[in-house]
Parts: sequence; structure tokens; C-alpha cells
Amino acid sequence: MSITVNTKYVEDFISKMQLASLKKKVKECHDMLHNKTGEGAEFTGWVDLPVQYDKEEFEKIKIAAEKIKRQADILIVIGIGGSYLGARAVIDMFKNPFRRTNKTEVIFLGNQISSEYMTSLLYHIVDKDIAVNVISKSGTTTEPAIAFRILKDFMERKYGKEYAKTRIYATTDKEKGALRKLAETEGYETFTIPDDVGGRFSVLTAVGLLPIAVADVDIDELMEGAALARELYNQPDNEAYKYAIYRNALYKIGKKTEIMVNYEPHMHYFTEWWKQLFGESEGKDHKGIFPAGVDFTTDLHSMGQYIQEGRRDLFETVLHIKNSRAEFIIKEDKENLDGLNFLAGKSMNEINEKAMQGTVIAHYDGNAPSLIVDIDEITPKNVGELIYFFEKACGISGYLLGVNPFNQPGVEEYKKNMFALLGKPGYEEKKKELEARMKF
Ligand code: PA5
Repeated sequence: MSITVNTKYVEDFISKMQLASLKKKVKECHDMLHNKTGEGAEFTGWVDLPVQYDKEEFEKIKIAAEKIKRQADILIVIGIGGSYLGARAVIDMFKNPFRRTNKTEVIFLGNQISSEYMTSLLYHIVDKDIAVNVISKSGTTTEPAIAFRILKDFMERKYGKEYAKTRIYATTDKEKGALRKLAETEGYETFTIPDDVGGRFSVLTAVGLLPIAVADVDIDELMEGAALARELYNQPDNEAYKYAIYRNALYKIGKKTEIMVNYEPHMHYFTEWWKQLFGESEGKDHKGIFPAGVDFTTDLHSMGQYIQEGRRDLFETVLHIKNSRAEFIIKEDKENLDGLNFLAGKSMNEINEKAMQGTVIAHYDGNAPSLIVDIDEITPKNVGELIYFFEKACGISGYLLGVNPFNQPGVEEYKKNMFALLGKPGYEEKKKELEARMKF
């Protein structure tokens, strides 16, 4: 096991009775999830996914990844929400942010509607060989659809229609949606997202695995870690459930914002993935912890003041990576003009660790308690375990809260308004109504 949850800096805030009652309830939630009797059960395919996945498709993913690496300098991954954050999170954990190699670079598009980003990206790829992986479970999401329309045209002009097809890979539903229809009509290679796995739980399907494999992260190990986690977090008393119980206990005493904290820049997008996972799963029926994120120590110099002394309705979840993949020792300086010789001989890891310990205690003293998720080190296997840890904790946490963690009805509201304002056929009445209320 590479993950443990340290609750010592929250114990004083929570009553034993409260914990006991949540522990009792967690058993019911476990049964609801595993027996598929809870709300949203039709989207719980991720529970057994680490062992019950399509092995043929998995091999196809590896073959396609090798082909993409041969054919492209850049793979452009088009997708939004659950169709991009998982891949981005995992790839960022393993890539050197500065090193330009001759390996295939993976970049992301279709996760906003910015002309400036699109223009910059087109300049960046103009003289490069590219491949595209367009990902959308519904196959109808506007942001990636717009981006793909532009990229399809770009590629067809660059390579010709027939050759462009060999560089486009579509990941979508097995039959529904415009993307499936388009991919079949054009003859693209396709990958299928299982019906019973929702977007934000889909990183261990082709959605995440194809881009991750192109980035040379070992997807066999990733799945191995997730399979191990499936075993570990299937026991009645486990670390994922412990995390779910404590965050719900904190919510019950008015700690309504959870801030995920990391001390490694490569974890930034993991936090973004976690924010979507928990935010979209729990924020409904006017309930739910608001998931936020900070990158420390960077943000101690911007958000630290608020966390220490602002509104007291927050707690932190610290991702504590115990073993770094690099070490940098601070040297002695004879003149010591900067006064830093007290650090000589220490590694940056040790300093980072002390920053973490000092911050946890300071925030605890300031009434902002911390749950600490201890992770041995960042390896593909441990990351597989970490992904599953949070997925399982999220499913259980949502049931503890009393919501359906596997739907996202609220996401549709902005879309209806946007389509109406853009004049999409069928939205004529809505357009009139919104224009009458317009204050821009
Ligand atoms: O978790 C979810 O279901 C959503 O966040 C989706 O991933 C996101 O809206 C993108 O949807 P799609 O993959 O259908 O384009």
C-alpha cells in the first residue's frame, strides 16, 4: 500500500460520536455502491474497471500510441472536463516541464473557446507533424466539437483528406453522438468509452490511457496500481473510506471548503482533476464541499494569509509525497551574505518537508485543520492507486452526503443559455426570454 491518511491534525475538531455515526453509515454506502442499489448505479462501471476492462481495446491503445509516436511530433488531445483532466494530470506528473525532446509532445485543446489560444496553437504546430485524439463521451460537447472542426480542416489542408484520416483518433461512445457518426463516416480509428463509466471517472479507459501511453507513461503499471487499489479499498475499513468519513465529518461542523494542497508543481493538474471529480460529483441539491486547490509553497505567498486568518469554514487535504524523484543539496557559502548557511547540507526536499510540517501546524493553530494523504512516491503504479483511491472515496463520500455522485444535471444549464443566445435551432423561445433579461 502506498497511500495512508493521517488524521491527527483534524481529530480535535471532530466528535467521536460523529465519527462513529459516519463509520456506521459508510458500511451502507459501501453496499449501495457494490450491490448497485444506490442512485446512479448505472455509472459505477469504474469500480471494477481496473480488472474488468476490454483487454483487446487495451492492446489496441498501445499499438495506436506507438503509431502516433512514429507519425507525430505533437499529439493534440481535444476534450474537456473528464475527457481531458485525467490525462493531463498523469502526463504532467511524469514530464520534465523544460525539456524539449524528440519524443511526441502531448498538448491539449478544446477545453475552452479562446481564439487567442487556438491561434497560438496553430502557429506552434504549423511546421510540425501532428496527430489528433478527439475525445467526447457524449460526442456533442461544444468546446471540443469547435476545436475539432478547426483541426480537421487544418489537417485536411496540410495532409490531404485521405492521409489526414490516418492521423485522427476518436474516443467516444460505442454508438451515440455526433462524434461517433463523424468518425465512422470519415473512417477514423476509434476507441470506446464504456457506457457505465462517466466522464470524470474515465481516466483509466481509452480517454486517459491513449494520451498517457503516447507520453510514455507505463499504462500497464498504472492499471496494476488501480487493480491493487480496488482490492485494498474493497475492505470495510480502508484508507479511502477514512478520507471520505473525515471530510464529511468536517463538512458537518461547517468546514464547507476543502483545499487540496500540493508541494510539487507537477501535481497541479492532479488537483484540477480532483476538483472536477469531487465538485461535479457532490455539488448538487444545494449541498457539497467546495473543492479548491493551491500549489505550495508558491501559493503560501498569495493564498496563505487567507487560509491562516480568513473565513474559518475551510480545511485542507495535503498531498504529501514522501520520496521525491530528485535531490538537490544546498551548499555552504563562506561569505554567507544571504544568511542561509543554516540550510547548508540540507536537501531541498528536507526544506520542503519542513515547510509542509510548519504550515500544517500553523493552519491547525489558525483553525484550518489538515487531512494528510501520505503517498510513498510518484510512480505509474502508485498513481494508478491514487486515482482509484480518490474515485472510491468520491463515490462513498457522495453517498454519505446523500447525493447521486454520478450525474451532473446542473452542467446543462449554461449550455441551454449559450445555445439560445447563439441562435441554435430549437431554442427560439429561450433566446427571446434571455435577450429580454440581458444586462450586458
Ligand atoms: O464528468 C463528466 O461527465 C463531464 O465533466 C464530462 O467529462 C465533460 O462535460 C465532457 O463531456 P464529453 O466527454 O461528453 O464531451
